[in-house]
Amino acid sequence: MATPPKSGLQRPAELDQCIDVSGMVDPEGGLVDRRVFTDEAVYKQEMSRIFARSWLFIAHESQFQKPGDFFQTYMGEDPVIATMNKKREIRVLLNSCRHRGARVCRADQGRTKMFTCTYHGWAYDLDGNLVNLPGKEQYDENFSQDDWPLVTVPRVESYKGLIFANWDENAEPLEDALGDMRWYIDAFMDRDSEGTYVVGGVTKWVLDGNWKLAAEQFATDWYHVNMSHASALMVMSPSGKGPKKEIAERTGVQYHDDHGNGAGFPVHPKNRFDAQPVHEYYDYDFLRERLSPEQVMGPMTNGHATVFPNFSYLPVNGSIRVWHPKGPNKMEVWAWTVLDRSMPEDVARAQRLYNLRTFGPSGIFEQDDGENWSECQSIAHGFMVGNTPLNYQMGMATVGEREGFPGTTSELYSDAAGRALYRRWRELMSTPAWHEK
Ligand code: FES
Ligand SMILES: [Fe+2]
Repeated sequence: MATPPKSGLQRPAELDQCIDVSGMVDPEGGLVDRRVFTDEAVYKQEMSRIFARSWLFIAHESQFQKPGDFFQTYMGEDPVIATMNKKREIRVLLNSCRHRGARVCRADQGRTKMFTCTYHGWAYDLDGNLVNLPGKEQYDENFSQDDWPLVTVPRVESYKGLIFANWDENAEPLEDALGDMRWYIDAFMDRDSEGTYVVGGVTKWVLDGNWKLAAEQFATDWYHVNMSHASALMVMSPSGKGPKKEIAERTGVQYHDDHGNGAGFPVHPKNRFDAQPVHEYYDYDFLRERLSPEQVMGPMTNGHATVFPNFSYLPVNGSIRVWHPKGPNKMEVWAWTVLDRSMPEDVARAQRLYNLRTFGPSGIFEQDDGENWSECQSIAHGFMVGNTPLNYQMGMATVGEREGFPGTTSELYSDAAGRALYRRWRELMSTPAWHEK
């Protein structure tokens, strides 16, 4: 079932009315109106025009081994269950009972034969069909339980182990939406011919701050690293005095595209993994062959990235994460650790711990980032603050093509991917979605 289920109900159009927000961002001039982070009406429109029509990250393929394996997550604010059905296909179902709307699955993850609502007992199979309901004889002969399945997300596709879903039945294929971004993702997710897996469950934490603050930072912001993470860099440098000048001032590449995806990374032939056992494990010459020299010099070993709208990753740490929107002022971060399947146990352990120490909820880098977003959000409701535009003008002059790096790029220190993210945001927020037609 692709569309919201049909019924004889009629909702007044005013309740779903959209507003013209196209003037709130100016990607060409590099300006953003701060109310995109605080306004309730804008947020509501993001749910219907961005989250209900974009490819959203659901889970990693390794989370599903056997039929009945399930994982509960969100698409925007909609709870969904991802599960493997008897044909071993991944189904994504709206986790809301068709009777009175309770969630039919409350566990985070597990294995089951069916999802039984704990309110009145309607029970659904792994494909979302309503297979049983207590007291069925109390309904009249017009009632057919076939008419009341869980709503199914019509499109589920994956790329290199990453499962995405989309409510828009006619959405372009996931691979097209990723476009050239795939080359950058490959540098992270395709280092090992055996593929990847996730380990250690999902770490979840709540932050004060609009989801876009995190998404745009991971798309576009290497700029904050030396300042915001100064103390972490000091602790991690061998001398204890902070990184050497050539590391602190290194240059690199930032990628962005029309879909609002972005990635940035320092480029240097000596780029390496930070965790020593991981660094020693990788055969860089082999990887230059398997991938390309440019991928190894750049996005394989370092950097940040966002797949529009709210999926981000960090290759050197092996972190993938979703910024779940929870109202305009809050987000819930869900983070996984990704490892290569071929990694021996000690290397896998080193990478897992490195990720937790740096980008776990209390990681030495993660804490700095969360603090910044909450700081920006905490004052954004002020009248004058809200009426003072923000500057996204860095790197205007460096946008162009760079040999060896697909797509449109700029210098590493740049807001180009941030501007691209808001360009995509403006485009989607200004165009009616499939469910409005
Ligand atoms: S709300 Fe699920 S059975 Fe009633
Ligand atoms: Fe950071």
